[in-house]
Amino acid sequence: MRISHLVYPIVQPILRSLRRSPLLIRKIFDVRVPPDVAVQYDPTTVLLARTMQDLVAQTLSSRGNEPPLRLLEMGIGQGALVSLSIAAQTQPEAVRIDGVDCSPSRVNSSREVASFNGRDAHFWQSDLFTDVSPESQYDFIFFNPPYVPTQTGRDLQLTQRLEVDGDQMWDGGEDGASVLREFLDQSREYLSPGGCVVFGVQEIFLPDALVRKTMEPFEYQRIERQRPRWLPSTAYIGYRPTP
Ligand SMILES: C[S@@+](CC[C@H](N)C(=O)[O-])C[C@H]1O[C@@H](n2cnc3c(N)ncnc32)[C@H](O)[C@@H]1O
Repeated sequence: MRISHLVYPIVQPILRSLRRSPLLIRKIFDVRVPPDVAVQYDPTTVLLARTMQDLVAQTLSSRGNEPPLRLLEMGIGQGALVSLSIAAQTQPEAVRIDGVDCSPSRVNSSREVASFNGRDAHFWQSDLFTDVSPESQYDFIFFNPPYVPTQTGRDLQLTQRLEVDGDQMWDGGEDGASVLREFLDQSREYLSPGGCVVFGVQEIFLPDALVRKTMEPFEYQRIERQRPRWLPSTAYIGYRPTP
């Protein structure tokens, strides 16, 4: 039996209400949730938001009068919390934020959250990069991907437990890394020189060795791993391969 089968059923009910709390969402992400919109986050959302905020702040502090940084969030989910937390920390003229999700209902709810917060972000539906313009070049592409192996997610009844409208929220395919693999492959075409991908996973579902094996064929450079003690998630950063 995998460790996730033992740990998840105990931890999930405790965390359930915390993950949907508008008060906590405001505190953690600086995003207000409209009363009629259901938004939830997970530990990886928190880590990805923190990692991206730091990276964007560092990059902006070392830039002069240059064009805005271009950001793309893959899989914005119900509230685009990572993107909107970055928007909350930056001037609109310093960053341009795009975001996509394969689910039309999640795109709509993220648009509502952005508009409720008066944030300028551009969200649309796309299955990975299918509907992202091939001319687009991003300084950062970030993703909290679905990373639970299909059978594990079915055993844990994740779609019901998370109360979401489909498996795409969590289903990472047979080994948990299928969507991540496709994302890493396709992202290379959309990164500007010096640009990077940033993603997060939970090791109980996707161990470090499998993440590294998944990244290897795509030759990302200067791979960094961030594993804070205070969260059960890990973030990875990989820079655009040299052509
Ligand atoms: C784990 S959730 C993360 C949601 C949100 N970004 C967060 O951090 O809380 C994964 C998101 O990726 C989206 N997704 C899954 N497969 C996708 C694909 N092929 N293309 C675009 N989005 C996808 C899902 O619909 C879901 O919103």
